[in-house]
Amino acid sequence: MNKITPAIVEQFNKIVGEPFLLTDTESIEKYGKDETENLYYGPEVIAKPRTAQEISELLKICNEHLIPVTPRGGGTGLTGGALPHFGGLVISMERFNSILEIDERNLQVTTEPGVITEVLQNTVREKGLFYPPDPASKGSCFIGGNIAENSGGPKAVKYGVVKDYVLNLEVVLPTGEIIWTGSNVLKNATGYNLTQLIVGSEGTLGIVTKIVLRLIPHPKYDLLMLAPFNSIEKASEAVSAIFSAGITPSAMELMEIDAITLATKMLDSTVIPLTEGLAAHLIIEVDGNNVDVLMNEMEAISEVLSNFEVGELYFADDAQQKNELWKIRRKANEASVAAGYTIEEDTVVPRAELPKLIKGVKALGASNGFKVVCYGHAGDGNLHIRINHPTIKKSFESAEMNAILNDLFELVHSLGGTISGEHGIGLIQKSFMPVVFDAITMDLMRGIKKTFDPNYILNAGKIFDQHK
Ligand code: LAC
Ligand code: ZN
Repeated sequence: MNKITPAIVEQFNKIVGEPFLLTDTESIEKYGKDETENLYYGPEVIAKPRTAQEISELLKICNEHLIPVTPRGGGTGLTGGALPHFGGLVISMERFNSILEIDERNLQVTTEPGVITEVLQNTVREKGLFYPPDPASKGSCFIGGNIAENSGGPKAVKYGVVKDYVLNLEVVLPTGEIIWTGSNVLKNATGYNLTQLIVGSEGTLGIVTKIVLRLIPHPKYDLLMLAPFNSIEKASEAVSAIFSAGITPSAMELMEIDAITLATKMLDSTVIPLTEGLAAHLIIEVDGNNVDVLMNEMEAISEVLSNFEVGELYFADDAQQKNELWKIRRKANEASVAAGYTIEEDTVVPRAELPKLIKGVKALGASNGFKVVCYGHAGDGNLHIRINHPTIKKSFESAEMNAILNDLFELVHSLGGTISGEHGIGLIQKSFMPVVFDAITMDLMRGIKKTFDPNYILNAGKIFDQHK
């Protein structure tokens, strides 16, 4: 791979225009970081193009001169997907910030990738429509980044993840061609599913420039309950029992006590009663168009919970209380980082195996001398594990931490699970891919990468290394 010469900078300049091409120290520092483990890799140049055509021209130059390119959305990623590990060019998608069309006849939206997820949700909501995937960073992450990572969030348990809403994508290939991956239809059995190949490909196969999403009618009502437990194991055992009882909540989240107290403190909130011996909460939401049905569902859930030593249930009274509870849940990540839980994992197991995963994680912490806090999307079996190690503050390139994490992923794999549910593999998890994939599967993935990006310029070294 090559460095960007002044002559190439000049060519970039002609494409995007001077105000949108940055090389100053402050910008390099800003675009050299995301929210991953304090890692830093400064790019040489940052471009902020406005059109697919401009991206195409930038990529053609980089492809010709073998310059590494890293696409970037909101910079909220947790696995280093947006980090310019090899320097080169960062293409920031922040000027692609228009919602292009809401098609109310077909319940679809066409948007650019630099729109903040929450802005998109609120805009379609005004038309009575619902785009459910809601990562905790929804107030600052970009919809394009969500597509790159196939993000989830609390609603995934009932409504599915990003992939379940993406119908069609405009993508600039690393070699500069601009393609559409599919059609704006709800069923599509026409050829290989390139749309779904791009979803979750972490910016390694192309740069998404337009997105067509399907929407659903927004449910009219939701009810939210907080269920306290004095044992996290009991809380996790209750999760699959609720689904087995025939109920699908619209959110089924778990928060361990440390996450609750840290997030509550950070937000200066008093909404959650911190009862004696509290070990974990389940946050349970149901939604739909008939309040009586929802009340009955909550009653049925309460009945199931009573078999798992639940404490006194707390129901959010109004929109304000619900918002405050959700805010606390969304703060878990940031609050635990601030308290020293700097290493984060995004494991996922079949839902009923969650208690075994939690037990294993706690045992790993105890035998290796670090603190663990768990929270996440229990209904999906998707557990965020944060590690506060007395001396190791990053997992990336730490042999000691990698050995521990390898044990964790072996456990996850043995339970039928996998490494990441919604944060991706990016830079920091790639060394664990062989825990869950054999050599043949890894080679297939390398072959796909090569077909899209023969010169390995686009987000190279993410998900896996091209050369074994
Ligand atoms: C969460 C993010 C970190 O669920 O995925 O809090
Ligand atoms: Zn999450």
